Order: sequence, then C-alpha cells, then structure tokens
Amino acid sequence: MKKKSFVWHPNTQMNEWKSFDEIVTAKGMWLIDSKGNKILDAVGSMWCNVWGHSKPELIKAIVNQSKKLQHSSMFNLTHESAEKLAEKLVRFSPGMHKVFYSDNGSSAMEIALKLALQYWQNTGEKQKSKIITLENGYHGDTFGAMSVGYVPQFFGNFKKQLFPTLQIPTPNKYRIPKGYTYSDYQIYCLDKIETQLSKDNKIAAFVMESGAQVAGGVLIYPKNFQKKIKKLCKKYNVLLILDEIATGFGRLGSMLQYTEQKSIPDIVAYGKMLTGGYLTLAATLSSKKVYDSFIGEFNDRKHLFHGHTYTGNPIACAVSLENLNLYQKDNLIKKIQKKSKVFEKYYEEIAKLESVGDIRHKGMLMGIELVSNKKKKTPIRSKKSINKIFFEEGKNHGIYLRTLGNIVMLVPPLAISEKDLDFLLKRTIKTIKSAQKQVF
Ligand SMILES: Cc1ncc(COP(=O)(O)O)c(C=O)c1O
Repeated sequence: MKKKSFVWHPNTQMNEWKSFDEIVTAKGMWLIDSKGNKILDAVGSMWCNVWGHSKPELIKAIVNQSKKLQHSSMFNLTHESAEKLAEKLVRFSPGMHKVFYSDNGSSAMEIALKLALQYWQNTGEKQKSKIITLENGYHGDTFGAMSVGYVPQFFGNFKKQLFPTLQIPTPNKYRIPKGYTYSDYQIYCLDKIETQLSKDNKIAAFVMESGAQVAGGVLIYPKNFQKKIKKLCKKYNVLLILDEIATGFGRLGSMLQYTEQKSIPDIVAYGKMLTGGYLTLAATLSSKKVYDSFIGEFNDRKHLFHGHTYTGNPIACAVSLENLNLYQKDNLIKKIQKKSKVFEKYYEEIAKLESVGDIRHKGMLMGIELVSNKKKKTPIRSKKSINKIFFEEGKNHGIYLRTLGNIVMLVPPLAISEKDLDFLLKRTIKTIKSAQKQVF
C-alpha cells in the first residue's frame, strides 16, 4: 500500500501528482531514488548546487563545524565562521562594506528593501519611499519580494496586499514590440527609466536581478543595459539594489555579474550557490554609504530592526567558506567559461525542434522557449502542466528537468563535467521531442 504523505509541495497543483519520487541519496551530478533509478540533476537542486552532491570537502566542513558549534545567535554575540565569511564576501565584492546574514534569498531581498527604504529615512529624505523595478523580475515569494518581482500569473491572488512599484519593460530580443529594432527598444526602456527618475523625487531604489532575469524566462540583458541603469541611478540619486541570488557565483560565467556589468550597486543580495547548495544561507551586502546612515545614538532609532533565528548559522557559514575556497582552488569560474561552449554545440539541433522558438544561454544557464507556432511565437499551452509533462519525460530519459511556464530551464551544478553536459543536452533534445508530442 502506498504510504500517506503529509507534505505539501512548493508551486505544485497537488491534485496533479499521485505521488512523488523519493530521492534517497545523491552522488556527484546524480540523484538516486528509492527504486535505485539515477537521474542527472539538471535543476541543480533548485539552481543552487555547485559541486554536485556528496562533495567530501563540504561534508567535512559541515561535520567539523557541527562538532564545535551548531548554532548560536548573532544577537549580542558573534562567532568565527560568520566573521570569516563576511570578510571573504566583502573582499571579493567591490564597493561593499558590511554583510547582513539571513537564511534564504527572499529574506535577503526583504533586508535589501528595508536597508534602502530606511537609508532615506535615516538621511532625512523622508519622501523617498517608492521602488522602481523591471517587468518580469523575480526576487522571491515573501511579500516585499513579490511586490518588487510582481509576476501576475504567480502572485495575482495577493495583489491587494502588495505595495505598488513602478515597472519598466525589459528588452527581450525574441519578443520586441512591433515597430522597434532590438537596439531602439533598449533605448526606449532606458528613456522610460530616465523619464521616471527625473520627474519623481520620491523614488528610493531601483531593484533588478543582476545580469539576467532567470525565473522571468532567462532574459539576458543586452550589453551595457545594467551599466546604463547604474549611471541613471547615480545621476538621479536613487539607490541600486542588485539581486545576484540566481545569477552570481558563476551561474552566468563570472563570480559576480555586477563586476562584469560594471555596475557597482549600493546593496546586493547573495544566496543559492553561496553554500554550494548544501545549507541554507543568504547575505545582503551594503556599501559604506548605506551602512553609515544606520549609525547614531541608540535613541536615534537609526539601527536596522531585522533579524532571524538562524541569522549567520555557523554550520552554513562554515560550508560556505569551504565552498568559496574550492572556487579558488579549482579555478571554477575559468572552467565554467570553457564548459559553457558545450551548450553552443547543440544550439542548431535544439532550434530545429518543432516546438522551440528561442534559445537563451549564458554560462551554465540555458532557457529554451517553447511555442506552438514558430512564426507567430505563440507560447505553448497545455491542460496538464508543461512542467509535469517535461518532468515525466525527462525522467524517462535519465534527467531531472523543470520548466517554468513555457521555458525549459537547464541549470546544472556548476562543476558538471563536459561529458555529463553532453549527456544532459542530448537527453534534453530527446525529452523535448517526446514531450512536444503530448503538448501539440
Ligand atoms: C533572482 C532570485 N532572487 C531571489 C530568489 C528567492 O530565493 P529563495 O528561493 O532562496 O527565497 C530567487 C529564487 O529562485 C531568485 O531566482
């Protein structure tokens, strides 16, 4: 008899799933289920896995730290692994000065928003309270994060409770509005930003993912787009908050997208790959300018009223430190840049598939947009969730796949070998071929 489950799964129509495969262990890039089936983790365990599973160095860091100190609060106290990690993060994050820990990306973004909004309160420009963002951005599932990353299909039920934001379109080369070229449309978007910033002195911060929008459909920004936004923020005295949670730490082929994009922010959020994907930790870093505004006498009430039970958990910080040491020892970023070319070998074959409208790829991230009519670019739709169809078909072909809307996402562990990447791409093609039959 099937065991009754009491678990409610994330982003899932539970009615659609009779049961869920149970993963019992994982080694390298492979997940192993209770029936002994091996599937390649093409989701990188929700975009956070760096080295694959069961990496001895990371396990050792967890074990060693858990023998010394498992958890101790950061309220009134500190500990070695949080101190060492904060120093490391500040040293490789140009323009950043202090680190505020939390335990997931959404919280890191909430903190970023609170820092930015309070900065203007602390500095006496109390009218500055509005947030400007890009359409299609995604920053997490908590209320502040939903407000700044408002996706109607996901968050429509909560619209009334979300705070309003100003949204600017994001240039998407595949879906440029009629009458524009790609470069015209970039100018149009940047002009819109400038118009908003110049006419409204109540804008506190511009919030955007750094380098690309991931959940919004793998939209890689055109060259200099982010740099130009940074310039506009500076010109109009608006703070720039960058979200590197999904795109930093090598996912797009550089350690930080904001250094590649020459756009030093005032506040930046890290998460996901920070611990190599082994424990839950996130960090919000701020510039000295922002941090200094929170300094005053106790009764000035300028300090930040925020903190979580597991803020700066010692085991998570220890594994993160070891993870970052391995980045250096292994020269991971260079290797990603080389391996990224494996994806390119398959562009043509993927593009030829009947349901594929567009391929977007950078570093270790690929989004394949599915359409029902290539000419009209009609997004593919189905009664059953496309994700479920692709998940089942992917499993039949030995890969763990997840789609977001009509986008097949390839987000493998960063240290995946070229051989496993070849396997992943070949099996993705097979999966699309068999899954598209069910959707059309
Ligand atoms: C860009 C970005 N920001 C924030 C988040 C939220 O992170 P978490 O799921 O850890 O709350 C995500 C999650 O996918 C993300 O992609």
